Amino acid sequence: ANNRTFTMIKPDAVANGHIGAILNDITAGGFKIVAMKYLKLTPEKAGEFYAVHKERGFYGELVSFMSSGPIVAAILEKDNAVEDFRKLIGATNPADAAEGTIRQKYAKSIDANAVHGSDSDENAEIEGNFYFTDAEKF
Ligand code: CMP
Repeated sequence: ANNRTFTMIKPDAVANGHIGAILNDITAGGFKIVAMKYLKLTPEKAGEFYAVHKERGFYGELVSFMSSGPIVAAILEKDNAVEDFRKLIGATNPADAAEGTIRQKYAKSIDANAVHGSDSDENAEIEGNFYFTDAEKF
């Protein structure tokens, strides 16, 4: 079914000048942009967004990295959006990401892994609503 996922182009990919290339890969992959923003998270907002990982050892690193510079947040629409987007971006650790995937091409480490992609339809909805009101979705 045609449905939605949520993505962030992370501070590393923005700082390294990859916004344009990544958006091109996303649209070439058949995803329609439903909503998009360029912003910088405060540590508080980053902590809130990643609250599900609060108990993980990497939480502090993750929050400080995600608030270290501007990001692009976007809601994307496509048939089978969540699963197909995870295929397009590749494994969380870029060392394991398949050839041609966004993380293989643009990411440096498991923290600085270029992009986020929702892991379920339910989380896609929650994560998109963290950044966008209904009036900002087209
Ligand atoms: P993301 O999909 O944005 O969700 C949580 C992030 O935590 C993940 O991408 C990684 O960038 C980061 N992270 C750091 N260490 C780990 C780990 N061991 N397992 C999963 N995610 C990790």
